[in-house]
Parts: sequence; structure tokens; C-alpha cells
Amino acid sequence: MTATSPSPDTGTGYGRPASSHDARLTEVGPGTPMGEALRRYWHPIASSNALTSDVPHRTRILGEDLIVFRDGAGRPGVVFERCAHRGSSLYYGRVEDDGIRCCYHGWKFDVQGNCLEQACEPALGRRRDVARQPWYPVEERYGLVFVYMGPPEHKPPLPRYDIFEDLEDGESLISEMPIPGQNVTGMVVDFNWLQSFENAMDPVHAMWLHYTHSGPQFEGTGTIGFPPSYYDPYTVSDKIQYNITTDHGLMYLQRWQRDEPDGTTVDMDWAIEVQLPSIIALPDFVEVVPDRRHDCLIWIVPSDDTSHRAFAVVRAQSPDRLMRIIMGIKQNGKLPWELTEEEHQRFPSDFEAQGSQGPITQHSEETLVTSDKGVVALRRMLRKMVDDVEAGRDPLNVEPGEARPRQVKAGVFTVTAKQTDVEPTAAAVPAAGS
Ligand code: FES
Ligand SMILES: [Fe+2]
Repeated sequence: MTATSPSPDTGTGYGRPASSHDARLTEVGPGTPMGEALRRYWHPIASSNALTSDVPHRTRILGEDLIVFRDGAGRPGVVFERCAHRGSSLYYGRVEDDGIRCCYHGWKFDVQGNCLEQACEPALGRRRDVARQPWYPVEERYGLVFVYMGPPEHKPPLPRYDIFEDLEDGESLISEMPIPGQNVTGMVVDFNWLQSFENAMDPVHAMWLHYTHSGPQFEGTGTIGFPPSYYDPYTVSDKIQYNITTDHGLMYLQRWQRDEPDGTTVDMDWAIEVQLPSIIALPDFVEVVPDRRHDCLIWIVPSDDTSHRAFAVVRAQSPDRLMRIIMGIKQNGKLPWELTEEEHQRFPSDFEAQGSQGPITQHSEETLVTSDKGVVALRRMLRKMVDDVEAGRDPLNVEPGEARPRQVKAGVFTVTAKQTDVEPTAAAVPAAGS
């Protein structure tokens, strides 16, 4: 008998143990290991521009139902959804100059949950100060409202990023999602947050899913995008250097060749960086412009264990760049809502692939291989984050007193002769802005 002989025809499906997910990596509610770790960081909760004093907005982050609003004086606020009186939703409340007023009995709370008025009570509530609506601190930066939902004594400064500082002429920061109904509190995706986040460290899926299986999906490919050789799935594993540690996370480099008009080729590197806790620096995959300062960050924000939201900030001359992030992948030349069910099957993309992993993928059923190195390293980094918080240490990227902008190292770079002498390393990647 040789190694290639077929197995006896017994089937392998019967009697398997029940599958399971890795709760320590995926579950985010209060008191869970990952939930507590994620609560040590600031997370985007709304677009600053879209958050007006018009009506309150309902959202869900880390398993908690929250209301985000901007009072009439322009202050953003985040409070629990259930009113501290008898639980009506403040989603039906009214925004006033100094706070939000519940629809049921007229209690009014300011952006820090102080009860300003109990409308139907004698003297507007003689003990209204004990009825504090639970609230969280917020800060605005780069066109987003960020919320901190962790222990007050550990609240770090809201981070800055070098790529969003010192804008050039004509540039602005674009952060409002151009999607009706999702422009205030972000795009909602109905599966576990980690499936989106770890996709950023899975470079080979672009070669298979986005090019080979479903046909070229990146708008612009073959014109202003990558050459077809970039997408060869059978040689891609030789071209990737995984798991380069950066100051704030992890990065991979993918070597490719750009065809020049004179028939020569130039070596290029494509680099995606992820930063803790759930930030992706994704270069422009449609309009590939090398050696430019990186220009965008995407935040993956867990809503609960089985859904998440995405926020993005882009430094750009026009909103087109943000549109390329959201709409830059076409399926059979169409946008997702234009597809028939059969087209979803024949031309799947990220949502089909990641969504069909399930509400939370079943880690016990996985078979990890060489090209999952990035995913494995990302999970390792997240496990360390959880371990650090449990052990009472500050996890990576929680820096009390941090003042300097963080460096973002993603981009598309021309490999110089000097760099080709050595294996590419993090140090070989130009600093953002250089
Ligand atoms: S339930 Fe909100 S005021 Fe009564
Ligand atoms: Fe993808």
C-alpha cells in the first residue's frame, strides 16, 4: 500500500465532538477576558460631523447598549440606553441645550449622566443627584467621536497618529461613512469582529478570493492597480514576509514587480500593518501610488460577540479615497446589493467568505497552515494583550502620558538597491512621512 491509496470508505463526519470557538479571543462583554482588555482602549463610536444635535443615536459596543448624542451646546455624550428612572430607551428622548430628556417622565441628563431635572417630581426632584445615568467619557479627534469604556483609573490619553498630523495643502480628514443610516454610528457587519480584523493579516486570500476564484475584483486592476502577476496564488507564498513586529503591532510585506513603460520591472513591497487593539492600516488597493505617506486607518469595533462596526479616517484630497475603501471591490462588476443570489455564489468576496465562517467562527474545526502565519501571530498578540490586562500590566498601545503621535508603517514602497541586498525588515520600510 502506498501513501496515496484511498482511505477505506468509512466517512469522517459521524461522531465528531461538538465544535467550539475561542471565547478568550472573541467574546467582548463586560467581565470577559477580551472584553476587559478592549475596555482599556479608546474606540470610535460616531462620526463627529454626522453627530448633530438633532436626535439621539442608538448603538452597541462591547455588548453594551448605548446612546450617543450631541447636546445643543455642541458637547458629545455617551450614556446607557436604559433610563435610570424606569428603563425607557433614551433613543426616544429629546436632545436639549444641556442634555437629553427621557420621553416617559421627562427626566433630563447631561453628557456626564447628571440628572438635571425630574420633570414630574416636586421641585424637579429634590434628590435628583442620586439618579445618575451611567455614562462614559468621550473625546473628538480626526473627525470621530471616541469613547472610553474601561476603568476610570486606567484611562489613557486618546492616541494621535503621524499620518493624520500636518495635513498638506488641499488635504482634509474624511471620516463620515457615505452610507445612509450608517453615517453616524458606523457600518454594521453581522459576524464576530475578529473575523474582519484577522483578515487583514491574511494576504493570500486576495490572490485566491479576489482574483482567481471570483475573477479580478479590485476596481482598477490591470490599469492603475496591481499587475496580474501580483495575484498569482501559486507563487504568492514565496513573496511574503510575515510577522514583522512594529512599535504598535504587526506588519507583513509582499514583494511584487511593477512593469515599467520601457519593459523593465521594479521591485515593490506592499505592507499592511495592524495595531492593537483592532486597527488596520490598509494602503490604497485601487489607485496604487508608491512611496507616499500612508493615509488611512480602519477601526474594527465589536458591537457584541456576533456583530461589529467599522470606522475609517482617510487623509485625502477628495472623498473618492474613502469610497475606494468601501466600494473598491466589485463582484461580477457590481456592488453587493445589485447581486443575485447566484452571483453571490459565483463571485463571492470578503462578506461571503468571512460571514460564512459563522456568527463566530469555530476555532476547534480549523486546520491552520503556513499561509495562516499572519493570523496566528495576530491571535498571539491579542492573547498577550488579554494576559497583560489580567496580570495587571498595561497592554501594548496603552501608554499613560503618551504625547507623541504613533507611527503608521503601512504603504506601497519601491524597493531600493540597498534594500534588496538584505531581507526586508521593519527598518527597511520608509517611515511614514519620509
Ligand atoms: S423612564 Fe425615563 S423618565 Fe421615567
Ligand atoms: Fe479581502
